[in-house]
Amino acid sequence: PPDGLSPPWYPTPRGGTAERWADSYRKAADMVSRMILPEKVNVTTGTGWSMGLAVGNTGPATRVGFPALALQDGPLGNRFADNSTAFPAGVTVGATWNRDLMYQWGNAHAVEARKKGINAILGPCVGPLGRAPAGGRNWEGFGADPYLQGVAAAESIRGIQDEGVMATIKHFVANEQEHYRQSWEWGLPNALSSNVDDRTMHELYLWPFADAVKAGVASVMCSYNMVNNSYACGNSKLLNGLLRDELGFQGFVMSDWLAQRSGVASALAGLDMTMPGDGLFWADGKSLWGPELTRSILNGSVPVERLNDMVTRIVAAWYQLGQDDETKFDRKGPNFSSWTYDEEGLIAPGSPTDQEKVKVNQYVDAMGNHSSIARQIAAEGTVLLKNNDLLPITRDGQIGAAKKQRAGTLQIAIFGEDAGPGNGPNYCKDAGCNQGTLAEGWGSGAVDFPYLVPPVDALLEGWRNGSDSSSSARVNVSTYLTNDPPIAKQPHLLEKADLCIVFANSDSGEGFIKWDSVTGDRPDLSLQKGGDDLIVKVVNGCGGGKGDVLVVIHNVGPVTVEKWIDHPNVKAVLLANLPGQESGNALADIIFGDVSPSGRLPWTIGKGLADYGEGGQVMYVPNGIVPQQDFNEGLYIDYRHFDKYNVTPRFEFGYGLGYTTFSIHNLVVTPLRPKSAFPAPRPDPFAAPPEYDASVPSPDEVLFPPDLRRLEKYVYPYLDRVDDIGSAPYPYPDGYDVEQPPSAAGGGEGGNPDLWETYVSVSVDVANTGDRAGQAVPQLYLSYPQPAKKNDGDDEQEEVDFPVRVLRGFEKIALEPAESRTVTFELTRRDLSYWDVGAQNWAMLEEGAYTFSVGESSRRLAVNGTW
Ligand code: NOJ
Repeated sequence: PPDGLSPPWYPTPRGGTAERWADSYRKAADMVSRMILPEKVNVTTGTGWSMGLAVGNTGPATRVGFPALALQDGPLGNRFADNSTAFPAGVTVGATWNRDLMYQWGNAHAVEARKKGINAILGPCVGPLGRAPAGGRNWEGFGADPYLQGVAAAESIRGIQDEGVMATIKHFVANEQEHYRQSWEWGLPNALSSNVDDRTMHELYLWPFADAVKAGVASVMCSYNMVNNSYACGNSKLLNGLLRDELGFQGFVMSDWLAQRSGVASALAGLDMTMPGDGLFWADGKSLWGPELTRSILNGSVPVERLNDMVTRIVAAWYQLGQDDETKFDRKGPNFSSWTYDEEGLIAPGSPTDQEKVKVNQYVDAMGNHSSIARQIAAEGTVLLKNNDLLPITRDGQIGAAKKQRAGTLQIAIFGEDAGPGNGPNYCKDAGCNQGTLAEGWGSGAVDFPYLVPPVDALLEGWRNGSDSSSSARVNVSTYLTNDPPIAKQPHLLEKADLCIVFANSDSGEGFIKWDSVTGDRPDLSLQKGGDDLIVKVVNGCGGGKGDVLVVIHNVGPVTVEKWIDHPNVKAVLLANLPGQESGNALADIIFGDVSPSGRLPWTIGKGLADYGEGGQVMYVPNGIVPQQDFNEGLYIDYRHFDKYNVTPRFEFGYGLGYTTFSIHNLVVTPLRPKSAFPAPRPDPFAAPPEYDASVPSPDEVLFPPDLRRLEKYVYPYLDRVDDIGSAPYPYPDGYDVEQPPSAAGGGEGGNPDLWETYVSVSVDVANTGDRAGQAVPQLYLSYPQPAKKNDGDDEQEEVDFPVRVLRGFEKIALEPAESRTVTFELTRRDLSYWDVGAQNWAMLEEGAYTFSVGESSRRLAVNGTW
């Protein structure tokens, strides 16, 4: 195709080829073969916005035993639901660097989703990947690195699906900013096009989706934006080529809400389910599928085989998750309403048709003891950026590792709106404003809090308890929960304090909500609501210029800290990310020293937004009627950019301190398989996809049943008349008749199975060299052989450009003082390969040596070795 255009890839590879899904496909084939046309269409099409109790609802095929499916955001808890936990956000989970907690996070959420009658969680989120640090929704995902995103996605998907709930990996793909992600919110005729080259697509943006498919994810949500000038939900190269042929995806593709922009074309390009079911606009009832899909099957525009594949994928996913087992998963649908907290409400509030109210909220308490896992993630996802002998501060006022104690009472003053409750945690719908303590970003990825523990409450409780337990008060705390405390007029408020704790934050979210100057994406990386000014004032005045200051930040992504970070009175800085409902308790666990901080930055903190380079910038002003966002920086985002261009970050990717210290030594490289340029030949499929009768069904099947009580705007699969169907098929897209050869990189779930084989292992010894227990996060970074020559053997060997280093392994381990443990990283063929555009395959470099460096951050590399 001409430059900047997405190539055609047809027809859609059918599901049912993988071993792990074989049983489910067999059962699905049996059920689908008994469905009539409108039933099949019903399964693929949402009933319309607000036309069911969940955020997304499909039509059932009741006659053959297939229920309506309820899909709910995600990814940090049950959106619009009562009695559900507000877990920490993805960014906080990423910052834990703890695989087990990634799993637990997904698992606990799924328990709650299942108890509320939800079939599919709309999460986890790995797109945005984090190309632009100011991107509004980065916080829903796990950090600006494909490996970290991939591990966290796979773990959380396993956690979700082990509970029998479908996970949905989103947004596929290159949905890196909110501005112009779709047309209607931004007054443009079209969405933005993310223009991504093939290698960058594979090594960055597609990478975590491969992990998700490998983990068996049931569903993939395609994104609003275009990719290479073709809408992601109608992009055959993405959905048929990359996702199905190359990654071997067996589940189904659902559209983001109104991200479907064409009817027949998106069906042919590989979309399986349209959400919420309405067409080009919200709640207009004019579906691009529903009756139109029925019509296009009857007139031959969409091959019956494609519809059968769509339905089979959805039904197979349902079997795969064991949702047919009514002892585990009841079929009554959601026991709560997304649209009201009243006990009674409408089943389809989106329709103006008269309906009777029924009981829609049963107020099932889904939370169990999940507050403890939420608290643990929030604590482990808190990053200690600086600590000059200030933290921890015990409940009875002992300071730092040396446990210094003041002679008299320790006077503490807490400043900042972000420390307190504000107007309550659910003051703005979808958390669409920044007020009170920040514990989640805004948009569809936000939930209503059952409660939110503000930091000030937990800190006051601890220090009050501490004072109570001794005869004389050791700690005295005063609080000023505003960013505009009267400290100019009453300087003694600051002067009398020995220790000042100042809170500030930075918020963002999904582009349908604007708050202050933040239209989804942030305009800059500064602290908001005057946070920097507040910090500077507190630092200058605390204890008359002699007091110690602890800065606590809640944040959606990187924030600049330059105005105060180097001030000698700033003794400690905690970056708490988005901690969810247990915010205060988790922070108190760290400040009091019950938990040694073990969070690590899941992205780089630069000195300013410009440090991230041109490719790190959100497009705030559209550059055409289809805004063209060229990913010219290629692989060089976040630390890959800082490393390549020698930009010194303030705090590098992977960085974080604790209350103890570690040493890493004794790196041993153990080759397990010989190097070879390309993976083994693509294996044959395990099974053939199900075969059905492919003849066009009789039009009589599709007429509205006469006894059906029709709701206005509700999306049904039926037609009013069939005498106008015709038979002229819709003109198929260019390239539809050219069958594509299977990719050599495919052949299994997540790609060619050889890509997932371990080729080399690297072990290190990690020792706790301090005098407290703590958790270390040894990280392995890979550097490719340099200069690297392509494997293609032609005379003019082209050199391949590589990032200085890329993350390819991490572990989190708990160590007692003086304890030492060996940690082993296994590197797969994929980990060692790059995407060779010419060969259209993953390529390993046989000449030269790979370097493996292990350390405590991307720039604190203690040991290395080669292979
Ligand atoms: C749009 C968002 O982009 C997506 O993440 C979400 O799942 C759907 N809306 C449904 O709320």
